[in-house]
Amino acid sequence: MDSVDQALFEAAQKVRANAHVPYSKFAVGAAVLADDGKIYAGCNVENAAYPQGCCAEASAISQMVGQGAKRITRVFVVGPGTKPVTPCGGCRQRLREFAALDVPITCLGEDGAPLHTTLGALLPHSFGPEFLL
Ligand code: THU
Repeated sequence: MDSVDQALFEAAQKVRANAHVPYSKFAVGAAVLADDGKIYAGCNVENAAYPQGCCAEASAISQMVGQGAKRITRVFVVGPGTKPVTPCGGCRQRLREFAALDVPITCLGEDGAPLHTTLGALLPHSFGPEFLL
């Protein structure tokens, strides 16, 4: 892990401790580096009305946009288990709104090796803002 990934990892782990996951018990933390040089982090926030739950990546994006930043240059996701926790399909599309296809995404479980990938690899042939007329 390089120093940027290390900082993103620490931010994601810190916010992950506050995840509201009474239903899945699957606590996720996500951190994004924005083009303002700042790191924005978020955790998943579940709800008794299950579909109203919010993923960690969506929370991190909300933090970023609320602080005035619009472009993501790097992403880190960490969650439980031995497999790297990858963004769900919906969050891949959410990231697509604010990140270029070559943006690096690091995914990690509590144990095991990280997955180093990109948004373009996770969401091929994707639809984005530039398609709209
Ligand atoms: N979850 C995330 O927050 N991010 C991911 O990358 C994968 C899944 C959440 C959604 C739900 O609260 C829990 O993990 C189990 O799916």
